[in-house]
Amino acid sequence: MSLKPLLTIAMLAIGAQLLAQYKQPAPDVIDKKVEALLSQMTLEEKIGQLNQYTSDRLATGPLTPNSAKYQEIKDGKVGSMLNIRGAKETRMIQEMAMQSRLKIPLLFGLDVIHGYRVTFPIPLAEAASWDMNAIESSARVAATESAASGIHWTFAPMVDIARDPRWGRVMEGAGEDTYLGSLIARARVRGFQGKGLGNLDAVMACVKHFAAYGAALAGRDYNSVDMSDRQLWEIYLPPFKAAADEGAATFMNSFNDLNGIPATGNAYLQRDILKGKWNFKGFVVSDWGSISEMIAHGFAKDNTDAARLAMLAGSDMDMEGHAYINGLAGLVRDKKVDVALIDDAVRRVLHKKFEMGLFDDPYRFSNEGREKKVLNSVANRKTAREVAEKSIVLLKNDNQLLPLSKSAKTIAVIGPLGKSSTDMKGFWSVDWENDHLVSLFEGLQNKVGKQTQLLYSQGCAIKDSSRNGFADAVATAQKADVVVMAVGEAFDMSGEAKSRSNIHLPGVQEELIKAVQATGKPVVVLVMGGRPLIFNWTADHANAILYTWWLGSEAGNAIADVLFGDYNPAGKLPMSFPRAEGQIPVFYNAKSTGRPSPDGMPAPYRSTYLDLPNTPRYAFGYGLSYTSFAFSDLKLSKSTMQANETIEISFTLKNTGRYTGEEVAQLYLQDVTASITRPVKELKDFQKVLLKPGESKTITFTVNKDKLSFYDQKMNWTAEPGEFKLMIGNSSDHILLQDKFELFN
Ligand code: BGC
Repeated sequence: MSLKPLLTIAMLAIGAQLLAQYKQPAPDVIDKKVEALLSQMTLEEKIGQLNQYTSDRLATGPLTPNSAKYQEIKDGKVGSMLNIRGAKETRMIQEMAMQSRLKIPLLFGLDVIHGYRVTFPIPLAEAASWDMNAIESSARVAATESAASGIHWTFAPMVDIARDPRWGRVMEGAGEDTYLGSLIARARVRGFQGKGLGNLDAVMACVKHFAAYGAALAGRDYNSVDMSDRQLWEIYLPPFKAAADEGAATFMNSFNDLNGIPATGNAYLQRDILKGKWNFKGFVVSDWGSISEMIAHGFAKDNTDAARLAMLAGSDMDMEGHAYINGLAGLVRDKKVDVALIDDAVRRVLHKKFEMGLFDDPYRFSNEGREKKVLNSVANRKTAREVAEKSIVLLKNDNQLLPLSKSAKTIAVIGPLGKSSTDMKGFWSVDWENDHLVSLFEGLQNKVGKQTQLLYSQGCAIKDSSRNGFADAVATAQKADVVVMAVGEAFDMSGEAKSRSNIHLPGVQEELIKAVQATGKPVVVLVMGGRPLIFNWTADHANAILYTWWLGSEAGNAIADVLFGDYNPAGKLPMSFPRAEGQIPVFYNAKSTGRPSPDGMPAPYRSTYLDLPNTPRYAFGYGLSYTSFAFSDLKLSKSTMQANETIEISFTLKNTGRYTGEEVAQLYLQDVTASITRPVKELKDFQKVLLKPGESKTITFTVNKDKLSFYDQKMNWTAEPGEFKLMIGNSSDHILLQDKFELFN
């Protein structure tokens, strides 16, 4: 037999293995196995299961030197490792765990946030797709790749609602809206966990950061959060609940204190809500060092005290805090922590290890053959390109400058991100040797024919203030038929610990745009970055603007698809873009106040600024298309409803332009008068619809009691009788159809 058929047989076998669904033992069978194992464990071994260390190679937080950690694995003192990856390396470390007395396998966790081997758009960008299938498919690819590389557990999705673009971690979430964020939380959990834990292409999801981390005061990372219970329940908790309902295996708590109590030591969050009211059966891992950080918070007096507080509050596993491993045994002996709490935490961890099939075969995810086959496949890159296309938002397109003609003779690419591939990776990507991310310039090269000449000038750097490159940029623009400018943030300007007080386009980039625009050439500006940025001059003067975020491995190809109309952009902003930092937080679902300004413009003795409109530069839900759509014929099935009834709201959506395209029709509701003041509008439903030119479709939304409910004065989730306003539009600030109806009890 030649080698080739052998290889083919091997590959088929790997494929079949991947496809075969894992037959997980029934939960009660696992329960019994867990109990049997638990009964054999010493206190030290139990605590070991709650201890997680990072590898030394990769630290995603402040590292505590510990040369003994590999010996500790052999001694059964470690339950999980993070920042280890690769079939070979995970196998090697797992072999150490197999030398321990009870041979309990380790869990390998990693931040697989937007792709593993193939980098996907940053989560905020994907949220702009408003496309749950796309978002799920991105997480699916990430899971398939990482699971083939020995990873059992991703620290994602981050479901923190965020209204403050100064906070660098907005890049990791789904933006400002609770309804959209909850759907996305579910889609990501489905994508990561696939057909269920135990399958070889599924990783455990970890929903983070529990809770309210996205509301860090002043947008400064790790900062305190103080908010009403109503806001917590109404705005910040629902995406966590949605992810738990979708079956997420684990949760991560958060660095912030909430109303004076660090989330890690917060029994209300972890015991009462998560494990109590929501009946969550998985385990909670601390954030990196967040147990010991309770000392700096001024909440725990030392590491042992921190361990006590975290355990009492329901934190099951200590990530790189060294508090449990050093302090818990003493606390049990001193009767300060009941061993029953430790048993409960250990049960939760062991249960997941059984569910993952690790006791059957601790190396089942560490298979170099599968790893080679699955990683960076053509199919995975194709998915990344499709998701990237869907993530792009068209902000402006004067005189239909876009799409560009493929027969343009000379195109000038100008700007510091024009040839960058590193920055396309975004902040939370995994590093690879010889990685290939498609830059904008390369994407254009792949797209245009020989008749088109591509020119390039960097113009300036991202961050510094030198204007030395401006003359060359202007001269290059002058030689071109059309200019494509690539500006924005470097990959490390948004992300963890990347809060910024100034979120204008960094450096002299907007000046560069001015200089190039002055040539009179048509200018398309591509803004790349991890958060909403401020670029008012560009918004007013550029001919066309695309917000392209950080799109990952296929960035340049996806942008070229959109620039030339091979894909018609359909993204909608998942977060408001402010006009100035002074407006922050600015979000669409605000309250009216007693002195509203009808159009948000400055007005005497109204709730406005003297120097700025209240409205953002670009609103939540905003995004254009190369085609146009008309909304008409709004019909309500009835104008009153009882609480146990529904109302069907239908209208006609028509593609009135020249291109096939998708529109995201958005339904907003307002409870006009209630016992608690309500937002001026809240997103309650949407549909993304593909229409050919001239085609129309009837869209129907169903309103039920739940969509009208809120937390009343006694914190009961309820819908109050009265008038409701309904608004349908293509953006939160562009309502095209409206009506009202009444709820009777
Ligand atoms: C982050 C988490 C992350 C963890 C492990 C922390 O600093 O807040 O989101 O999962 O590090 O890398």
